[in-house]
Amino acid sequence: MDLKKYITIVPDWPKPGIQFKDITTLMDNGDAYRYATDQIVEYAREKEADLIVGPEARGFIIGCPVAYSLGVGFAPVRKEGKLPREVARVEYGLEYGKDVLTIHRDAIKPGQRVLITDDLLATGGTIEATIKLVEELGGVVAGIAFLIELSYLDGRNKLDGFDILTLMKY
Ligand code: PRP
Repeated sequence: MDLKKYITIVPDWPKPGIQFKDITTLMDNGDAYRYATDQIVEYAREKEADLIVGPEARGFIIGCPVAYSLGVGFAPVRKEGKLPREVARVEYGLEYGKDVLTIHRDAIKPGQRVLITDDLLATGGTIEATIKLVEELGGVVAGIAFLIELSYLDGRNKLDGFDILTLMKY
C-alpha cells in the first residue's frame, strides 16, 4: 500500500516554510491505519519487544494499537506535569522549541525490550530524549518505529547505533 497517498502536506504550518505532514488523513482511513500498524507490529515481533513506549501525543496514536495487537503494555512519555507519580525527566530540543519529557519511574522493568514509536522523525530530539528515559530505567531499546522520516533533517544521526523502521521518507 502506498501510505504517502494518505498523508496531507499542509504548506506553511505551524509557521512559514514548514511543510507539515498531517497524519490524520491516514488515521481516518481504516485500511491505511491498520496497514501501517501491522507493519510496525511485524517489526516489533522481529525485535521481540515486550513493551511499547511512545511520546505524547502522536506517539500514542502509533504505539497503542501496536501494543494492543501484540498483547504487551504501553508506557506513555509525557510533557512535564502530566504524570501523577514519581518520574524520570529529561530536557530536549524540538524542531521548533524546547521542552521536557517525563516517564513514570516504575513504567519499565530492568531488561525489558522496548519498542519506541512516534509519528515523525524530524530532528530526532524527541526520540533521543525518549531513549535516555528508557535507558535510565534499565530498558533495552529493541527498535524505534516511525510513520514518517524527514530525511533532510538528518534526525537519524542522533539515533546512531539504534535499529530504526520508517514507513515513509520525505
Ligand atoms: C512532533 C512529532 C514528534 C516530534 C518530532 O511532536 O509528533 O514527536 O515532534 O520532532 P523531532 O524529531 O524534531 O523531535 P510535538 O512535540 O509537536 O508533540 P505532539 O505530538 O504532542 O503534537
